Amino acid sequence: MELSGFLVPLVIMNLVVLFFSVLILIFKELLREKRQFKLQLNTEKKLMVQGGGSLLSTLFENHYFLPSGCGGKGKCGYCKVKVPKGGSSISAAEGILLERKQIKSNVRLACQVRLKNDLVVEIPEEYFKIQEFEACIHETSYVNELTKEITFQLKSPSNIVFKLGQYIQVLYDFHGEMIQRGYVIASLPSQSEMIKINVQLIEGGIMSTYLHSLREGDKVRFLGPCGDSFSPDSECGIFVGIAGGVGISPFKSIIQNILEVQPTKQIYLFYGVKDFSKLFDHDFFSSLFRTLPNFHYFPAFSEEIPGPDSCFLKGIISKIFQENFLENEAAEAVICGPTQMIDSLIPLFRKKDFVRINQKVWARKNV
Ligand SMILES: Cc1cc2nc3c(=O)[nH]c(=O)nc-3n(C[C@H](O)[C@H](O)[C@H](O)COP(=O)(O)OP(=O)(O)OC[C@H]3O[C@@H](n4cnc5c(N)ncnc54)[C@H](O)[C@@H]3O)c2cc1C
Ligand code: FES
Repeated sequence: MELSGFLVPLVIMNLVVLFFSVLILIFKELLREKRQFKLQLNTEKKLMVQGGGSLLSTLFENHYFLPSGCGGKGKCGYCKVKVPKGGSSISAAEGILLERKQIKSNVRLACQVRLKNDLVVEIPEEYFKIQEFEACIHETSYVNELTKEITFQLKSPSNIVFKLGQYIQVLYDFHGEMIQRGYVIASLPSQSEMIKINVQLIEGGIMSTYLHSLREGDKVRFLGPCGDSFSPDSECGIFVGIAGGVGISPFKSIIQNILEVQPTKQIYLFYGVKDFSKLFDHDFFSSLFRTLPNFHYFPAFSEEIPGPDSCFLKGIISKIFQENFLENEAAEAVICGPTQMIDSLIPLFRKKDFVRINQKVWARKNV
């Protein structure tokens, strides 16, 4: 009895001490996050920034724009930067998306780094070319039941310099949070005052719902141009394009460009969709297939069974590519589509002696 009478107040006192210690730690952490920190960007730029946010959003607020396919969710791996000094510890998303040797050489995902101390950050010089644009909707039209082609008329700046295969990041203030999502530019670089994107409506998707709701004249903001580009190699006699779903978006421009500069180049296009309702630009590619002996077209359904006289093949596009691309010469390739499709193609490309040039572009040396 006596012992428990002594223990109870001791336990209560310890709990009170623990409670206040935790409170002080949280308070200290909050105060630390609210502090200003020094951020050195490459060697020449020095900023004072507010702590607490992510490196991606902090740079954005200071008008330095990084590529970001997923808008800071730690899913795309596009926002890679080097952080030789400072930053929070490695997050679970970085553990998945970064290779061990990248982590060792201070590569981080900017959306996962929280500002808790002074930082030194290194970014590729080309990121300084990414600008914020204001545009208005010039026109929109459905290209299939779920996908809209949206044309932006640029206002400020009034022109964009981009290369084939690059993408923009549309910005949208969603209940006070700045949302960003990537969309491949579908138009040709020569149309510098207008750009087109194709947006597939995703059920419950924030940005695709917003973009589908826009009408002629509505204002829109975006960052660009972002990402790797493609320019046909005049030495190379074969081009391979592999597209999944809405990933077909840049291929019309890419193929038009190849035909302009290298009209006799052998072009192979593998285009996979679930079913007929998800196709677009198919009439354009079919007509090239009918008229050009050097254009080889392999459209395929992964779910629908094609009719007996149909030009469509049945199966997933990586399998169709494996079965039908037999050329054994130097070739260059562009792949664009869902991550799952790209991941399934990488081992096949390696097997066929392709080397990766950038995120989307591959090349096979003379074998
Ligand atoms: C470099 C790059 C280029 C891109 N180019 C294009 C393009 O040209 N056209 C285009 O339409 N999209 C493109 N995307 C995808 C685009 O950025 C968005 O991810 C997509 O529009 C969904 O955004 P959301 O805000 O509508 O959906 P969110 O609000 O992000 O997602 C809502 C829900 O839908 C799920 N979801 C997200 N995407 C898909 C999907 N494709 N299928 C099924 N479920 C999904 C999410 O997991 C989530 O559960 C590109 C992505 C990248 C990284
Ligand atoms: S991982 Fe997509 S923005 Fe960082």
